[in-house]
Amino acid sequence: MHANAVIVAAGKGERLGTRVPKPFLPVAELPLLVHTLRSLDRARLLSSLVVVVAPEREALCRELLNAHGPFRSAIRLTHGGPQRQDSVRLGLAALDAECDIVVIHDAARPFISPDVIHASIRVASQAGAALVAVPAADTLKRVEQVDDETPLSTESSLISPVRTVVETLSRQDVWLAQTPQTFRVPLIRAAHQRALDEAIQVTDDAALIEKFGGTVQIVPGERRNFKITTPDDLRMAEALLSAHASER
Ligand code: CTP
Ligand code: MG
Repeated sequence: MHANAVIVAAGKGERLGTRVPKPFLPVAELPLLVHTLRSLDRARLLSSLVVVVAPEREALCRELLNAHGPFRSAIRLTHGGPQRQDSVRLGLAALDAECDIVVIHDAARPFISPDVIHASIRVASQAGAALVAVPAADTLKRVEQVDDETPLSTESSLISPVRTVVETLSRQDVWLAQTPQTFRVPLIRAAHQRALDEAIQVTDDAALIEKFGGTVQIVPGERRNFKITTPDDLRMAEALLSAHASER
């Protein structure tokens, strides 16, 4: 078995709202992408890492890799596209020729552990598609947006738009998808090609397998492998990574 990882790092980070996109933001003194690559580099079943970056960040990315290496795995850079799905497809074109399992991971998840990566590789080699996920911990509410044109008071205008609860959903069979999402290479390449041909857009790779009638097996993950999406997530990551650095 020959496994590679594709690390998607070509997004704009609009929800975080920083000038520099997430992978290049310094967190606990190192760019976020370097934290994530160091975590992946600890997974000994991965022989190469393909980092997908925006063309205008390639030079910066090479500098970071030189400054913060060496890495055990071979690292290659390739250019991403407008949507995450495009970036993954372009990353899949840059795998080692002999690669048969691919671990697709968000650059914005620095806390991935080697054990979870290895579990996803084992499941994908047996089942074809493996999705790291965690059970929903909180009670789930379906909500609707109430007309926010006419706030009831000045305080309520601070919480805009106004949303109210429609119903409580059972969380029993609900799991929250993370990455890595790990696949046999021919399976995920064919799914991405079909999505391109049929103009199908989804937000994660497992959804393509589901859509085309395949089976995706769950690999239980860890809540700490959250994705840095909002300023609040960034503060949490900063605290965890700083604590981790001072332990060493
Ligand atoms: N990503 C990518 N190419 C894109 C969009 C996203 O490689 N065209 C990557 C991001 O860099 C990130 C991962 O996919 O590591 C998960 O996406 P997300 O958290 O949505 O990041 P962004 O798209 O950068 O953020 P936002 O949606 O807030 O703009
Ligand atoms: Mg995005």
